[in-house]
Amino acid sequence: MRLVDYQRPSALRRSRAARPARTFRQSRRGSRGRQAGADPFQQRDVQNLRTGPRPAFVRAALADRHHGLMDAGSYSVAFPRRWWYPVARSSELGRRPLAVTLMDSPLVVFRGARGAPAVLLDRCEHRNYPLSLGRVTGDGGLECGYHGWTYDGGGHCVRVPGLRGGRRQVDRGRHIPSHATVEQDGIVWAWGEPDAEPMRRPFALPAVDGRGAGEVLFRRDLDSTLRASLENALDVPHTAFLHRGIFRGGLPHAITAVRRPVDGGIEVRYLGEPVGLGPLRLPGDSGRTFDHWDRFFLPSIAQIEYAVDGWFRLVNTIVHLPMSPFRTRAWFVVRFESRLPASVVRAVVRQHGRRILRQDADALARQTERTRSLGGERYASTELDLLGPAIWHLLRRAERAEQLDGGEATPATVRERTIVFEA
Ligand code: FES
Ligand SMILES: [Fe+2]
Repeated sequence: MRLVDYQRPSALRRSRAARPARTFRQSRRGSRGRQAGADPFQQRDVQNLRTGPRPAFVRAALADRHHGLMDAGSYSVAFPRRWWYPVARSSELGRRPLAVTLMDSPLVVFRGARGAPAVLLDRCEHRNYPLSLGRVTGDGGLECGYHGWTYDGGGHCVRVPGLRGGRRQVDRGRHIPSHATVEQDGIVWAWGEPDAEPMRRPFALPAVDGRGAGEVLFRRDLDSTLRASLENALDVPHTAFLHRGIFRGGLPHAITAVRRPVDGGIEVRYLGEPVGLGPLRLPGDSGRTFDHWDRFFLPSIAQIEYAVDGWFRLVNTIVHLPMSPFRTRAWFVVRFESRLPASVVRAVVRQHGRRILRQDADALARQTERTRSLGGERYASTELDLLGPAIWHLLRRAERAEQLDGGEATPATVRERTIVFEA
Protein backbone atom coordinates (compact mmCIF):
# COMPACT_ATOMS: atom_id res chain seq x y z
CA MET A 1 0.00 0.00 0.00
CA ARG A 2 1.37 3.39 -0.87
CA LEU A 3 1.40 5.55 2.19
CA VAL A 4 1.33 8.87 0.40
CA ASP A 5 0.05 9.71 -3.04
CA TYR A 6 1.28 12.90 -4.51
CA GLN A 7 -0.12 15.25 -7.06
CA ARG A 8 0.64 18.67 -8.35
CA PRO A 9 -2.59 20.63 -8.80
CA SER A 10 -2.50 23.57 -11.12
CA ALA A 11 -3.82 25.76 -8.32
CA LEU A 12 -0.47 25.53 -6.61
CA ARG A 13 1.58 26.42 -9.65
CA ARG A 14 3.05 29.83 -9.10
CA SER A 15 3.33 32.33 -11.90
CA ARG A 16 5.86 35.07 -12.20
CA ALA A 17 3.03 37.55 -12.68
CA ALA A 18 1.75 36.66 -9.21
CA ARG A 19 4.98 37.64 -7.54
CA PRO A 20 4.80 40.54 -5.10
CA ALA A 21 6.07 43.95 -6.09
CA ARG A 22 9.54 45.02 -5.02
CA THR A 23 8.73 45.56 -1.42
CA PHE A 24 11.91 43.93 -0.19
CA ARG A 25 15.37 45.30 0.27
CA GLN A 26 16.92 44.16 -2.95
CA SER A 27 20.50 43.45 -3.80
CA ARG A 28 21.66 45.86 -6.51
CA ARG A 29 22.98 43.07 -8.63
CA GLY A 30 21.12 40.29 -10.31
CA SER A 31 21.39 36.65 -9.47
CA ARG A 32 24.88 35.21 -9.60
CA GLY A 33 23.75 31.64 -9.68
CA ARG A 34 22.40 29.14 -7.27
CA GLN A 35 25.52 28.50 -5.26
CA ALA A 36 26.90 32.05 -5.21
CA GLY A 37 28.48 32.82 -1.90
CA ALA A 38 28.54 29.25 -0.71
CA ASP A 39 31.82 27.57 0.04
CA PRO A 40 32.29 24.96 -2.72
CA PHE A 41 33.93 22.50 -0.36
CA GLN A 42 31.02 22.71 2.07
CA GLN A 43 28.59 22.26 -0.79
CA ARG A 44 30.40 19.15 -1.90
CA ASP A 45 30.32 17.78 1.63
CA VAL A 46 26.57 18.27 1.78
CA GLN A 47 26.16 16.51 -1.54
CA ASN A 48 28.25 13.68 -0.24
CA LEU A 49 26.12 13.37 2.86
CA ARG A 50 23.04 13.06 0.73
CA THR A 51 24.19 10.73 -1.93
CA GLY A 52 26.67 8.51 -0.18
CA PRO A 53 30.05 8.98 -1.82
CA ARG A 54 31.63 5.95 -0.26
CA PRO A 55 33.12 3.42 -2.66
CA ALA A 56 31.10 0.26 -3.08
CA PHE A 57 33.54 -1.89 -1.10
CA VAL A 58 33.28 0.48 1.90
CA ARG A 59 29.49 0.44 1.71
CA ALA A 60 29.50 -3.34 1.52
CA ALA A 61 31.80 -3.59 4.53
CA LEU A 62 29.64 -1.24 6.58
CA ALA A 63 26.45 -2.99 5.57
CA ASP A 64 27.96 -6.28 6.57
CA ARG A 65 29.03 -4.91 9.93
CA HIS A 66 25.52 -3.67 10.64
CA HIS A 67 23.76 -6.73 9.22
CA GLY A 68 22.30 -4.80 6.32
CA LEU A 69 20.16 -2.62 8.58
CA MET A 70 21.49 0.65 7.27
CA ASP A 71 21.47 2.84 4.21
CA ALA A 72 25.06 3.90 3.78
CA GLY A 73 25.53 7.61 3.32
CA SER A 74 21.83 8.36 2.90
CA TYR A 75 20.47 11.31 4.85
CA SER A 76 17.30 13.27 4.24
CA VAL A 77 18.96 16.64 3.85
CA ALA A 78 17.42 19.10 1.41
CA PHE A 79 18.27 22.78 1.25
CA PRO A 80 15.82 24.58 -1.04
CA ARG A 81 17.23 28.09 -1.37
CA ARG A 82 14.50 30.15 -2.98
CA TRP A 83 12.61 30.60 0.25
CA TRP A 84 12.69 32.81 3.32
CA TYR A 85 14.46 31.58 6.43
CA PRO A 86 14.49 33.11 9.91
CA VAL A 87 18.01 34.22 10.86
CA ALA A 88 17.39 36.11 14.11
CA ARG A 89 14.76 37.54 16.39
CA SER A 90 14.52 41.30 15.98
CA SER A 91 15.36 41.68 19.66
CA GLU A 92 18.62 39.74 19.20
CA LEU A 93 19.91 42.27 16.72
CA GLY A 94 21.37 45.21 18.55
CA ARG A 95 24.46 47.28 17.87
CA ARG A 96 26.72 44.32 17.34
CA PRO A 97 26.84 42.17 14.20
CA LEU A 98 25.53 38.65 14.63
CA ALA A 99 27.11 35.52 13.16
CA VAL A 100 24.64 32.90 11.91
CA THR A 101 24.91 29.89 9.61
CA LEU A 102 22.29 29.28 6.96
CA MET A 103 22.50 26.02 5.03
CA ASP A 104 26.25 25.81 5.64
CA SER A 105 26.90 29.41 4.58
CA PRO A 106 28.40 31.60 7.32
CA LEU A 107 26.44 34.85 7.35
CA VAL A 108 26.62 38.11 9.26
CA VAL A 109 23.42 39.90 10.24
CA PHE A 110 23.48 43.57 11.25
CA ARG A 111 21.37 46.70 11.28
CA GLY A 112 22.50 48.89 8.40
CA ALA A 113 21.37 52.36 7.39
CA ARG A 114 18.24 53.53 9.23
CA GLY A 115 18.23 50.32 11.27
CA ALA A 116 17.20 48.07 8.39
CA PRO A 117 18.53 44.54 8.83
CA ALA A 118 21.15 43.34 6.36
CA VAL A 119 22.61 39.89 5.75
CA LEU A 120 25.98 39.32 4.06
CA LEU A 121 28.33 36.42 3.58
CA ASP A 122 30.51 36.54 6.69
CA ARG A 123 33.79 37.05 4.87
CA CYS A 124 35.64 40.27 4.22
CA GLU A 125 36.66 40.50 0.60
CA HIS A 126 40.04 41.91 1.59
CA ARG A 127 41.61 39.04 3.56
CA ASN A 128 38.70 36.68 4.40
CA TYR A 129 38.34 37.86 7.99
CA PRO A 130 34.87 37.17 9.47
CA LEU A 131 32.91 40.41 9.31
CA SER A 132 30.87 39.33 12.33
CA LEU A 133 33.99 40.10 14.40
CA GLY A 134 33.85 43.73 13.30
CA ARG A 135 31.51 46.52 14.37
CA VAL A 136 28.59 48.54 13.06
CA THR A 137 29.52 52.17 12.43
CA GLY A 138 27.35 55.14 13.36
CA ASP A 139 26.00 55.44 9.81
CA GLY A 140 25.05 51.77 9.58
CA GLY A 141 28.14 50.42 7.80
CA LEU A 142 29.76 47.13 8.76
CA GLU A 143 33.43 47.72 9.55
CA CYS A 144 35.82 44.80 9.30
CA GLY A 145 37.81 44.23 12.49
CA TYR A 146 41.07 43.51 10.63
CA HIS A 147 41.88 46.57 8.47
CA GLY A 148 38.63 48.49 8.69
CA TRP A 149 37.15 48.04 5.24
CA THR A 150 33.53 49.05 5.60
CA TYR A 151 30.48 47.68 3.77
CA ASP A 152 26.94 48.87 3.29
CA GLY A 153 23.86 46.65 3.67
CA GLY A 154 24.11 45.58 0.03
CA GLY A 155 27.63 44.23 0.55
CA HIS A 156 29.42 47.05 -1.31
CA CYS A 157 32.66 48.34 0.12
CA VAL A 158 32.23 52.02 0.89
CA ARG A 159 35.45 52.79 2.77
CA VAL A 160 39.05 51.58 2.83
CA PRO A 161 40.86 53.32 5.70
CA GLY A 162 44.09 55.01 4.71
CA LEU A 163 43.38 54.93 1.01
CA ARG A 164 43.98 58.34 -0.52
CA GLY A 165 41.13 59.70 -2.61
CA GLY A 166 38.39 58.50 -0.25
CA ARG A 167 35.33 56.86 -1.77
CA ARG A 168 36.49 57.51 -5.32
CA GLN A 169 39.29 54.99 -4.84
CA VAL A 170 37.01 52.25 -3.59
CA ASP A 171 36.08 49.72 -6.24
CA ARG A 172 32.28 49.83 -6.25
CA GLY A 173 32.18 46.86 -8.57
CA ARG A 174 33.37 44.56 -5.83
CA HIS A 175 30.67 43.13 -3.73
CA ILE A 176 30.11 40.63 -0.96
CA PRO A 177 27.16 38.26 -1.61
CA SER A 178 24.12 39.67 0.15
CA HIS A 179 20.72 38.23 1.01
CA ALA A 180 17.46 40.13 0.75
CA THR A 181 15.90 40.66 4.17
CA VAL A 182 12.50 41.39 5.65
CA GLU A 183 11.72 42.14 9.29
CA GLN A 184 8.27 40.78 10.11
CA ASP A 185 6.54 39.46 13.24
CA GLY A 186 9.61 40.24 15.35
CA ILE A 187 11.79 38.01 13.14
CA VAL A 188 14.53 38.90 10.67
CA TRP A 189 14.03 36.76 7.57
CA ALA A 190 16.69 36.25 4.90
CA TRP A 191 16.15 34.98 1.38
CA GLY A 192 18.06 31.71 1.07
CA GLU A 193 19.71 32.51 -2.24
CA PRO A 194 22.32 35.28 -2.24
CA ASP A 195 22.11 38.17 -4.70
CA ALA A 196 18.67 37.13 -5.82
CA GLU A 197 15.21 38.64 -5.94
CA PRO A 198 12.66 37.13 -3.55
CA MET A 199 9.64 35.54 -5.14
CA ARG A 200 7.18 35.80 -2.28
CA ARG A 201 6.66 37.16 1.23
CA PRO A 202 7.92 35.38 4.36
CA PHE A 203 5.49 33.22 6.28
CA ALA A 204 3.16 35.37 8.41
CA LEU A 205 2.72 34.38 12.05
CA PRO A 206 -0.90 34.27 13.26
CA ALA A 207 -2.32 37.29 15.02
CA VAL A 208 -3.69 36.41 18.45
CA ASP A 209 -5.06 39.49 20.14
CA GLY A 210 -8.32 38.52 21.82
CA ARG A 211 -9.06 38.23 25.51
CA GLY A 212 -6.23 36.85 27.64
CA ALA A 213 -3.79 37.06 24.73
CA GLY A 214 -0.11 36.43 25.28
CA GLU A 215 3.07 34.97 23.85
CA VAL A 216 5.83 32.67 25.06
CA LEU A 217 9.00 32.15 23.08
CA PHE A 218 11.57 29.38 23.24
CA ARG A 219 14.74 29.01 21.20
CA ARG A 220 16.68 25.82 20.90
CA ASP A 221 19.53 24.53 18.73
CA LEU A 222 18.81 20.93 17.81
CA ASP A 223 21.28 18.23 16.77
CA SER A 224 19.01 17.16 13.98
CA THR A 225 18.24 17.45 10.30
CA LEU A 226 15.57 19.95 9.31
CA ARG A 227 13.36 17.06 8.22
CA ALA A 228 13.59 15.29 11.58
CA SER A 229 12.92 18.51 13.51
CA LEU A 230 9.87 19.31 11.41
CA GLU A 231 8.49 15.80 11.73
CA ASN A 232 9.08 15.74 15.47
CA ALA A 233 7.23 19.03 15.93
CA LEU A 234 4.17 17.68 14.12
CA ASP A 235 4.22 14.05 15.13
CA VAL A 236 1.24 13.16 17.33
CA PRO A 237 1.89 9.47 18.17
CA HIS A 238 5.19 10.15 20.00
CA THR A 239 3.54 12.48 22.50
CA ALA A 240 1.91 9.63 24.46
CA PHE A 241 5.32 8.03 24.99
CA LEU A 242 8.11 10.58 24.94
CA HIS A 243 5.94 13.17 26.74
CA ARG A 244 3.88 10.74 28.80
CA GLY A 245 1.84 12.57 31.41
CA ILE A 246 2.09 15.97 29.74
CA PHE A 247 0.03 15.52 26.58
CA ARG A 248 -1.52 12.11 26.51
CA GLY A 249 -0.78 8.67 27.88
CA GLY A 250 -4.05 7.92 29.71
CA LEU A 251 -6.79 5.74 28.25
CA PRO A 252 -6.51 5.86 24.47
CA HIS A 253 -9.21 7.57 22.47
CA ALA A 254 -10.12 7.11 18.83
CA ILE A 255 -8.99 10.17 16.92
CA THR A 256 -9.71 10.91 13.27
CA ALA A 257 -7.00 12.67 11.29
CA VAL A 258 -7.73 14.34 7.98
CA ARG A 259 -4.73 15.38 5.91
CA ARG A 260 -5.10 17.80 3.04
CA PRO A 261 -2.83 19.96 0.92
CA VAL A 262 -2.72 23.70 1.59
CA ASP A 263 -0.88 26.40 -0.33
CA GLY A 264 2.83 25.64 0.07
CA GLY A 265 2.35 22.80 2.54
CA ILE A 266 0.14 20.30 4.33
CA GLU A 267 -2.49 20.47 7.06
CA VAL A 268 -3.78 17.66 9.26
CA ARG A 269 -6.96 18.20 11.25
CA TYR A 270 -7.63 15.97 14.27
CA LEU A 271 -11.16 15.23 15.43
CA GLY A 272 -12.35 13.67 18.67
CA GLU A 273 -9.40 14.54 20.87
CA PRO A 274 -10.51 14.99 24.52
CA VAL A 275 -9.62 18.35 26.06
CA GLY A 276 -6.57 18.23 28.31
CA LEU A 277 -3.17 19.81 28.68
CA GLY A 278 -1.22 19.20 31.84
CA PRO A 279 -3.15 20.63 34.78
CA LEU A 280 -5.71 22.23 32.45
CA ARG A 281 -7.61 18.96 32.18
CA LEU A 282 -11.37 18.64 31.99
CA PRO A 283 -13.21 15.71 33.59
CA GLY A 284 -13.22 12.67 31.33
CA ASP A 285 -17.00 12.75 30.95
CA SER A 286 -17.17 16.40 29.87
CA GLY A 287 -17.32 15.28 26.24
CA ARG A 288 -15.47 18.37 25.07
CA THR A 289 -12.93 17.90 22.34
CA PHE A 290 -10.14 20.01 20.98
CA ASP A 291 -10.06 21.56 17.59
CA HIS A 292 -6.54 20.61 16.61
CA TRP A 293 -4.56 21.28 13.44
CA ASP A 294 -0.94 20.48 12.57
CA ARG A 295 0.55 22.26 9.58
CA PHE A 296 3.74 22.30 7.59
CA PHE A 297 4.71 25.13 5.27
CA LEU A 298 7.75 25.11 3.04
CA PRO A 299 10.54 25.37 3.69
CA SER A 300 10.86 25.24 7.47
CA ILE A 301 7.65 26.12 9.31
CA ALA A 302 5.76 23.75 11.59
CA GLN A 303 2.56 24.94 13.23
CA ILE A 304 0.35 23.37 15.90
CA GLU A 305 -3.00 24.91 16.74
CA TYR A 306 -5.26 23.83 19.60
CA ALA A 307 -8.60 25.47 20.34
CA VAL A 308 -11.65 24.89 22.49
CA ASP A 309 -14.51 26.77 20.98
CA GLY A 310 -14.83 30.25 22.50
CA TRP A 311 -12.65 29.33 25.46
CA PHE A 312 -9.09 28.78 24.45
CA ARG A 313 -6.84 29.03 21.40
CA LEU A 314 -3.13 28.33 21.28
CA VAL A 315 -0.94 28.43 18.17
CA ASN A 316 2.63 27.22 18.39
CA THR A 317 4.54 28.27 15.27
CA ILE A 318 7.98 26.74 15.03
CA VAL A 319 10.27 28.54 12.60
CA HIS A 320 13.43 26.63 11.74
CA LEU A 321 16.81 27.81 10.56
CA PRO A 322 18.68 24.91 8.92
CA MET A 323 22.25 25.74 9.88
CA SER A 324 23.94 22.62 8.55
CA PRO A 325 22.82 19.08 7.66
CA PHE A 326 22.65 17.96 11.29
CA ARG A 327 22.17 21.22 13.15
CA THR A 328 18.89 23.12 13.14
CA ARG A 329 17.86 26.17 15.16
CA ALA A 330 14.19 26.39 16.15
CA TRP A 331 12.20 29.28 17.57
CA PHE A 332 8.95 28.21 19.18
CA VAL A 333 6.56 31.15 19.08
CA VAL A 334 3.59 30.17 21.25
CA ARG A 335 0.69 32.62 20.99
CA PHE A 336 -2.56 32.16 22.86
CA GLU A 337 -5.85 33.72 23.91
CA SER A 338 -8.17 32.34 26.57
CA ARG A 339 -10.67 33.10 29.31
CA LEU A 340 -7.92 32.44 31.82
CA PRO A 341 -5.57 35.25 32.77
CA ALA A 342 -2.62 35.40 30.36
CA SER A 343 -0.19 35.10 33.28
CA VAL A 344 -1.62 31.66 34.21
CA VAL A 345 -1.46 30.30 30.67
CA ARG A 346 2.02 31.76 30.21
CA ALA A 347 3.27 30.02 33.35
CA VAL A 348 1.81 26.66 32.29
CA VAL A 349 3.20 26.96 28.76
CA ARG A 350 6.64 27.93 30.07
CA GLN A 351 6.78 25.09 32.55
CA HIS A 352 5.53 22.35 30.23
CA GLY A 353 7.18 23.81 27.14
CA ARG A 354 10.64 23.61 28.66
CA ARG A 355 10.14 19.99 29.66
CA ILE A 356 8.68 18.98 26.30
CA LEU A 357 11.47 20.78 24.48
CA ARG A 358 14.16 19.07 26.53
CA GLN A 359 12.66 15.65 25.78
CA ASP A 360 12.30 16.38 22.08
CA ALA A 361 15.82 17.81 21.77
CA ASP A 362 17.24 14.76 23.51
CA ALA A 363 15.30 12.35 21.29
CA LEU A 364 16.40 14.17 18.13
CA ALA A 365 20.04 14.20 19.22
CA ARG A 366 19.93 10.47 19.90
CA GLN A 367 18.31 9.81 16.52
CA THR A 368 21.03 11.80 14.79
CA GLU A 369 23.76 10.10 16.76
CA ARG A 370 22.39 6.70 15.80
CA THR A 371 21.94 7.42 12.10
CA ARG A 372 25.46 8.82 11.91
CA SER A 373 26.98 5.92 13.79
CA LEU A 374 25.29 3.57 11.32
CA GLY A 375 26.34 5.71 8.39
CA GLY A 376 22.84 6.50 7.15
CA GLU A 377 19.13 6.78 7.87
CA ARG A 378 16.45 4.17 7.48
CA TYR A 379 12.75 4.88 7.95
CA ALA A 380 9.89 2.42 8.26
CA SER A 381 6.53 4.20 8.23
CA THR A 382 2.93 3.23 8.75
CA GLU A 383 -0.20 5.21 8.00
CA LEU A 384 0.22 6.85 11.41
CA ASP A 385 3.21 8.72 10.02
CA LEU A 386 0.96 11.13 8.21
CA LEU A 387 3.37 14.02 7.94
CA GLY A 388 7.02 12.92 8.01
CA PRO A 389 7.24 11.27 4.58
CA ALA A 390 5.09 14.01 3.05
CA ILE A 391 7.28 16.77 4.53
CA TRP A 392 10.37 15.10 3.13
CA HIS A 393 8.72 14.76 -0.27
CA LEU A 394 7.87 18.47 -0.39
CA LEU A 395 11.33 19.54 0.79
CA ARG A 396 13.14 17.36 -1.70
CA ARG A 397 10.86 18.39 -4.56
CA ALA A 398 11.38 22.06 -3.73
CA GLU A 399 15.14 21.60 -3.86
CA ARG A 400 15.06 19.50 -7.01
CA ALA A 401 12.85 21.95 -8.85
CA GLU A 402 15.48 24.63 -8.27
CA GLN A 403 18.27 22.41 -9.49
CA LEU A 404 16.45 21.12 -12.54
CA ASP A 405 14.90 24.10 -14.21
CA GLY A 406 16.85 26.96 -12.68
CA GLY A 407 13.53 28.73 -12.25
CA GLU A 408 11.00 29.11 -9.51
CA ALA A 409 10.33 25.99 -7.51
CA THR A 410 6.90 24.58 -8.18
CA PRO A 411 5.72 22.98 -4.98
CA ALA A 412 4.47 19.45 -4.93
CA THR A 413 1.49 18.61 -2.80
CA VAL A 414 -0.07 15.62 -1.04
CA ARG A 415 -3.39 13.98 -1.68
CA GLU A 416 -6.15 14.15 0.91
CA ARG A 417 -6.22 11.21 3.29
CA THR A 418 -8.24 10.26 6.40
CA ILE A 419 -7.16 7.79 9.06
CA VAL A 420 -8.46 6.77 12.48
CA PHE A 421 -5.98 5.95 15.20
CA GLU A 422 -5.76 5.60 18.98
CA ALA A 423 -3.89 8.04 21.19
S1 FES B 1 40.43 41.46 6.16
FE1 FES B 1 38.82 42.83 6.31
S2 FES B 1 39.74 44.73 6.07
FE2 FES B 1 41.36 43.33 5.83
FE1 LIG C 1 7.58 16.16 21.10
